[in-house]
Amino acid sequence: MIILDGKKLAQDLKTELKSEILELKNKGIVPGLSVIIVGNDSASEIYVGNKEKACKEIGIYSEVHGLEEKISEEELLMLIDKLNADEKIHGILVQLPLPSHINEDKIILAIDPKKDVDCFHPENIGRVFLDNLRFLPCTPAGIMEILKKYEIEIVGKNVVIVGRSNIVGKPLALMMINESATVTSCNSKTKNLKDECLKADILISAVGKTGLITADMVKQGAVVIDVGMNRNEEGKLLGDVDFAKVSKISSAITPVPGGVGPMTIAMLLKNTIKAVKIYANRS
Ligand code: GUN
Repeated sequence: MIILDGKKLAQDLKTELKSEILELKNKGIVPGLSVIIVGNDSASEIYVGNKEKACKEIGIYSEVHGLEEKISEEELLMLIDKLNADEKIHGILVQLPLPSHINEDKIILAIDPKKDVDCFHPENIGRVFLDNLRFLPCTPAGIMEILKKYEIEIVGKNVVIVGRSNIVGKPLALMMINESATVTSCNSKTKNLKDECLKADILISAVGKTGLITADMVKQGAVVIDVGMNRNEEGKLLGDVDFAKVSKISSAITPVPGGVGPMTIAMLLKNTIKAVKIYANRS
């Protein structure tokens, strides 16, 4: 059984990106990422802190706009307009979720698609659908990268994805289809989740529910990818998968922490550097 070490892969990728950034800096270009966070959601604060730290580590200029919970939609839209026009900012990321008085769709639509490093804008998601890429959504891209680096074949495999969020499950299903997998998308209404999961050569859980995937749901030798990031009462980070038992059945599995999470951040950094090239080629 192989532990799919996302932390190590992310570190290798950051080393590669660091040298790309040095080349850009020699040409007088510093990649810039602007992160907007509204309110005081503690999980969001941790995610944003990790993104900022990773930018610093490899030499991306980053700025965090921490906005009050009660900020109006108009004010937020004005800030996005300003960042869209800011030449030192190549990537804009609005941390989700937003407070309920702000329309998330409207905010995402306001981000210049060429600066949309999260790949949330409908234009960029449409490009994922068509396999005509600008950016790739960070978490699904991180998963694909783990599979590629560990030389896990996707073509013709039964891929079962539990969870259909716009951030992970849905775009990942598209990307797996583009790689010629046979894809099953499961959700909370799925009639017999266990039977669906047992068909998986590659099983991916992106739900956010501790202990959802138990050993009896996993086929012998399956590859298991755990996107869950759940905290228990003691504040310990746990995935969706019962790691201790499932790891005895699977051929390969991602740990939590140290699996998909670090790869998500590495992909954000990669998208930010890609945005510099997109900016240079804008018409
Ligand atoms: N909230 C949870 N995951 C993400 C993410 O990948 N990007 C943003 N912007 N918000 C999130």
